[in-house]
Amino acid sequence: MLVTLTINGQIIHVERETPIFEAAKKLGIPIPTLCHHEALKPYGSCRLCTVEVVKNKWPKLVTSCNYPAEDGLEVKTDTDRVKRTRKMVMELLLARCPHVPAIQQLAQKMGVKTSQFKKKGDEQCILCGLCVRVCDEIVGVRAIGFVGRGTEREMNTPFGIESDTCIGCGACTYICPTSYIEMVERPDAPGGRSLNKGELTLDSCPNSYVCENCDREQQFLLETMQVIEKFRRENEKRRSEQKV
Ligand code: SF4
Ligand code: SF4
Ligand code: FES
Repeated sequence: MLVTLTINGQIIHVERETPIFEAAKKLGIPIPTLCHHEALKPYGSCRLCTVEVVKNKWPKLVTSCNYPAEDGLEVKTDTDRVKRTRKMVMELLLARCPHVPAIQQLAQKMGVKTSQFKKKGDEQCILCGLCVRVCDEIVGVRAIGFVGRGTEREMNTPFGIESDTCIGCGACTYICPTSYIEMVERPDAPGGRSLNKGELTLDSCPNSYVCENCDREQQFLLETMQVIEKFRRENEKRRSEQKV
């Protein structure tokens, strides 16, 4: 069912429940994102995609990647309140990950040069959850997740030990915006590779993180899909052998 809403004064009709971010995209209105990927369920963790919605005359800030479109909604993506919030989110990210090229480039793009927040160390993971979701929703093995709370929260394998369910497909390293995780060659591991995290040398992407038409990305995707496919075939074979 179609609903009608306005974004920055422009009228748009979209299917009910379409995330506002997608509706804005159809109108060519850019909204910065970090934890969003069109192939995965929205997560709403980075808050960079914040916009203002007015509902029953009440304005409020929401994350556009997971806020559903509804009839009569008035969306504003460029108010001072929105700009201030996104700037603050970016400054927090800069304080957490001052040396991550993807964060530096995004900050630069948003005109954020310094952070008013005290440096919280030198993290490489922004806790966006993209790796966790791709492993769960696309690969289907749930080899990684989040552990700990508050400042101790981190992406890890269960019990922090080598995962016995990881198939070495590399999908998590492909999707990670900060290059926190990588695959290391390990002939004895499934897929010939195992997961390594947190010890990377971060080089800035020569293509400024514009992944479309990037040869390296296409090659990586191809290899990843081949490993996932191989894993699925082996699993099916194992299951049918067990039935016999
Ligand atoms: S390499 Fe392992 S942890 Fe990463 S997505 Fe594939 S199965 Fe999951
Ligand atoms: S390892 Fe990468 S993809 Fe996973 S939560 Fe951290 S920044 Fe996001
Ligand atoms: S992209 Fe919406 S919260 Fe991260």
